[in-house]
Amino acid sequence: MLQRAGMTDALTIPSLGPVPELFECPACGTTFPFEPMPPPTGGGLAPLQVRPCPGCGKHQVVQDPNVDLVIKDKWRLDRRLGAGGMGTVYLATDLSVDREVAIKFLHPRLVAQAEYRERFVREARVMAQVEHPHLVALYAAELDGDVPFLVMNVARGRPLARLMKERGALPLAEALPLVRQIVSALSALHARGLVHRDLKPGNVMVSTTGHVMLLDFGLTRSHETLITRPGTTVGSPHYMSPEQVMQGPLDARSDQYALALVTAELLVGRRLFANGPTAVVFEQHLREAPEPPHVINPKVPLAVSQVLLRGLKKRPHERYPTIEAFFSELERAASQAEEPPVIEPGTAVSAPVIDPSAAITPRAGAPAPEVLPTLKGGDVAPAPLGAARPEPTRNERRPTKNEVPLKTEASPAWHAEPPPSAAKTLPPDEPPVPIVSLEPPVPMAARRRLTAPPRSSTPPWAWAVLVGAIVLSLALLLLR
Ligand SMILES: Nc1ncnc2c1ncn2[C@@H]1O[C@H](COP(=O)(O)OP(=O)(O)O)[C@@H](O)[C@H]1O
Ligand SMILES: [Mg+2]
Repeated sequence: MLQRAGMTDALTIPSLGPVPELFECPACGTTFPFEPMPPPTGGGLAPLQVRPCPGCGKHQVVQDPNVDLVIKDKWRLDRRLGAGGMGTVYLATDLSVDREVAIKFLHPRLVAQAEYRERFVREARVMAQVEHPHLVALYAAELDGDVPFLVMNVARGRPLARLMKERGALPLAEALPLVRQIVSALSALHARGLVHRDLKPGNVMVSTTGHVMLLDFGLTRSHETLITRPGTTVGSPHYMSPEQVMQGPLDARSDQYALALVTAELLVGRRLFANGPTAVVFEQHLREAPEPPHVINPKVPLAVSQVLLRGLKKRPHERYPTIEAFFSELERAASQAEEPPVIEPGTAVSAPVIDPSAAITPRAGAPAPEVLPTLKGGDVAPAPLGAARPEPTRNERRPTKNEVPLKTEASPAWHAEPPPSAAKTLPPDEPPVPIVSLEPPVPMAARRRLTAPPRSSTPPWAWAVLVGAIVLSLALLLLR
């Protein structure tokens, strides 16, 4: 059960009850008391209290009555970290070992619903099953009265959603290291036959040093159950794949769709599909071609845009076979774009081929989309998930307080100059993202040279003029 920490005799005046806490209005500075709310009798958290400031009357002042509560004599809630559709998360202290932890409580209004309780249990199991430097780890799963809660390690920083709001579109060199870490986390889930199903900017935390943690496994399911028993529509409408919208069978390629959306959003600074009622958003996933990222933001190279659009194909078999293949193509496209194109004078450059079946209508004046290269030779067929891929071991690095920064603390990745190449920013002990062997990249200049017609030193018309001149001068001589 809950108790208020420090609710000692010194703080409690028996005749008056607990001393009211004082709050300060952030706008006018008026201080006024809030009576601490008693914790609910069935366990769990007390609701937030919201009051208008008695001084200016304008600002709402919010009191979280759960701060300082001690749960089960073991965990003290220190600060509210955030809340989602399923739970509220607090920064807390494990008093037995004096360690900071994050605790997620199921919302009290959902406690009575078996489905949400099951999701909570499943979330705990996923966290317990898969250890990875970019996945939040579970320390304990407990009940407070009727209310389940999960104790986990703290993901430092802020949600990617907030970073995006603050920064807008990120350059490729800043976005790719973030995407690489998300891929690494998803890859660990996929290797276990799990599909996350709720990848979105609100479920990705980014520390000030650029370390990424993937959160929220409430919807994560085994790929087997998703193939054999399609379920109800669950997920976040803006990031749901068409097959998820349709409640159809789905596999890891559904996460690829969500990741392509998140990556595109990082690069263009806004969602690819317009906001609107859920039904409209679903319709866009099912039938509308997304606006090509390079059209929204011309700084996005065409080749990168094409990789993203392939990850966003409506039919899963038209996407990349795995999330690793998607990312290796993305990196390849990005690195090619970094090379300045070398075009020799007089060299013919082949025009882009337009695929008539591609349901993408670029804006007027935008470059036409090219056909994506078909995967050849070393490409892999969709492998059964979890097969033949290195599984993260229990001994893998688990950075918490001493994370390896992508850049130095003094110049975090998104405040500093972009690194020269995304690959170089990978922390040295990062678990390798399995790379699917595709065709080796052909340097831009070499490609263009391949398409150039053979050049001869003297053009045929020059010969004709020369012969004509000789014949003419001979004729003039004879006439004389
Ligand atoms: N382990 C954690 N460390 C730090 N913050 C967290 C952690 N887990 C969740 N949060 C914060 O709480 C918010 C909601 O958590 P989430 O697990 O997504 O809940 P829900 O399942 O309700 O969506 C996140 O967006 C994040 O800001
Ligand atoms: Mg969430």
